[in-house]
Amino acid sequence: MSAKKIITVFGATGAQGGGVVDTFQSDPKLRDEWVVRAATRDTSKDSAKKLASAGVEVVFADLDDKASLVSAMKGSYAAFGVTNYWERASADVEIQQGRNLADAAKEAGVQHYIWSSLLNIKELSGGELPNVYHFDSKATVAGYIRESEDGFLKQVPPDNNFALAFPVAPNAIVPVFHPADTGKYIKAIVHNRDALPGNRFLGATAYITAAEVLEGFKRVFPEAGKTARYFQMSEQMFRDYLEAKGTPDCIITELYENMKLLETFGYYGGEPLDTTAKLVEDHLTTWEEYARNVAPGFRSCT
Ligand SMILES: NC(=O)c1ccc[n+]([C@@H]2O[C@H](COP(=O)([O-])OP(=O)(O)OC[C@H]3O[C@@H](n4cnc5c(N)ncnc54)[C@H](OP(=O)(O)O)[C@@H]3O)[C@@H](O)[C@H]2O)c1
Repeated sequence: MSAKKIITVFGATGAQGGGVVDTFQSDPKLRDEWVVRAATRDTSKDSAKKLASAGVEVVFADLDDKASLVSAMKGSYAAFGVTNYWERASADVEIQQGRNLADAAKEAGVQHYIWSSLLNIKELSGGELPNVYHFDSKATVAGYIRESEDGFLKQVPPDNNFALAFPVAPNAIVPVFHPADTGKYIKAIVHNRDALPGNRFLGATAYITAAEVLEGFKRVFPEAGKTARYFQMSEQMFRDYLEAKGTPDCIITELYENMKLLETFGYYGGEPLDTTAKLVEDHLTTWEEYARNVAPGFRSCT
């Protein structure tokens, strides 16, 4: 039998987390496949000792201390994250703790992070109920988690292999652009004011095809790359995927047309990059460098 997967449970000494621990400990199928790790700020208190005596690994972690969260989640396949708004009754604290958890889960290479969230009531009520902070702050964290997903190259169920899923053909042309390179472009612009065709500067390291995005990933992460694949989504799949993330219809249409642009007219209307690229003195970030050094979603691959 293969090794059991670890689920790290935050709030394990409390109501929600405690319930998660109980279920994973008592359900025969879950017990077969999972080991529970319980996180608490005080491993010596009675509720923590009780967990330990029930065979649960109990570790220290404080939601205010991201490093402690990373070490608590190291080696975990899954994690359950919950914050206790009522302990300090501060939306700012809850948002920061929720972000700490999400960032730490990513840093620790957790593949399945489950966030105990609520809806944004200020938005839901159209501003009529603007003070239900312990809902809104959890929803703010949920938005942060979604935003920090690494786009369309990520691990997908059921096998958690990496897939690059775009609603365009694999030969569609993608401009490689790292926002941190913007200063290098502006430097080139101020040094070459007279040399810019039409006073326009095309910011990109290179054009590569969608298939080459995947090939670059495979070169940087040979192990994870073995099972990585390109998947051409249909328009409907793309729409369903974004809709499930709560993306408004008009934004979905905008993003779909943005993708189609890559395989039709070209991101910069098909204009070659060389005229402006040769004005840049500094090294521009390549896709492979970005994948290796910047993309937080790929940290578990190294
Ligand atoms: N009760 C409900 O019906 C209900 C419904 C919807 C939402 N909620 C939400 O659920 C949350 C409370 O969850 P709960 O009912 O499970 O709470 P709880 O029983 O009071 O337990 C709170 C847990 O949070 C942990 N915790 C608090 N601050 C921490 C920190 N800085 N670092 C690490 N762990 C920390 C505690 O662990 P240690 O003390 O051991 O460190 C404890 O295990 C609230 O945010 C509330 O808005 C509750």
